[in-house]
Amino acid sequence: MPLEIIADAREMRVRMEDLRRDGRKIVFVPTMGYLHQGHVSLLEEGRRRGDVLVLSIFVNPTQFGPSEDLSKYPRDMDGDLAKARGAGTDFAFTPHASTFYPPGYQTWVQVRELSQGLCGDKRPGHFDGVASVVAKLFHVVNPHAAIFGEKDFQQLAVIKRMVKDLDFDIEIVGMPTVREADGLAMSSRNAYLSPEERQQALTLSRALERAQALVKAGERDAGKLLEAARAEIASAPDARIDYLELRDPDSLHLVPTLSGPTLFAMAVFVGKTRLIDNRVLRV
Ligand code: PAJ
Repeated sequence: MPLEIIADAREMRVRMEDLRRDGRKIVFVPTMGYLHQGHVSLLEEGRRRGDVLVLSIFVNPTQFGPSEDLSKYPRDMDGDLAKARGAGTDFAFTPHASTFYPPGYQTWVQVRELSQGLCGDKRPGHFDGVASVVAKLFHVVNPHAAIFGEKDFQQLAVIKRMVKDLDFDIEIVGMPTVREADGLAMSSRNAYLSPEERQQALTLSRALERAQALVKAGERDAGKLLEAARAEIASAPDARIDYLELRDPDSLHLVPTLSGPTLFAMAVFVGKTRLIDNRVLRV
């Protein structure tokens, strides 16, 4: 089936309803475009899981703060559509902000507790924007399943909670973070990094590896693990820690002493670029 590109929400909804009525299993991968191998891994999983694979490409303005990178967020629609075709995508939903958010828009979905802490504290309102746009996308596409990356661990937790709380009949699938050969987590924002910054950005994944090695060697104290990770990141002259935290992977509550699988999550500015990474440490 050739890739069909649809910008109109109503048209998209009607097409999806028809396919659903025909008994086809619809799998959905929401993105903000500038696709990389991480996104493609989600599409490939979608291809395996369903009959109809739907991708959305929408740089959602409501999840960017006033001082964030909305206007310069990288875009490459032609490249994205080529990658989507390569991964066997059937539909690309590409709404325009002006019609997707009609004048006077004022409705928000807020997942209260899980949207606090970590990126939620550093990017006020971010997860309200994410939950709201994903709810809108879910209403239009109405998929049987939707696939998200663990790279955005808190986002995945927020979406799972929203689906449960608002009775969406959608299976939420989380997929592991795809990394470059040297360990850097793939991200559309990596495009902002200069060659020197790109090298310094390796301290994020190295810090996570170091923490896992210490846990393997018996360390259970969160303070000690964070200290070791902080030292690793401090070796990069242009890196500045936004947050570095150990949390329970389900509740996202802070963990002072490790006793089971524990999320190590971080946000680090490298130069002006804010990168996030995480790893669930195995005890
Ligand atoms: P975006 O940053 O484009 O990411 C789209 C999806 O790709 C998310 O589920 C994200 O977790 C996943 N992803 C990103 N990098 C990845 C990697 N290296 N490995 C595996 N998966 C990766 O996340 C968003 O867009 C938006 O917030 C969105 C959910 C689309 C709502 O606007």
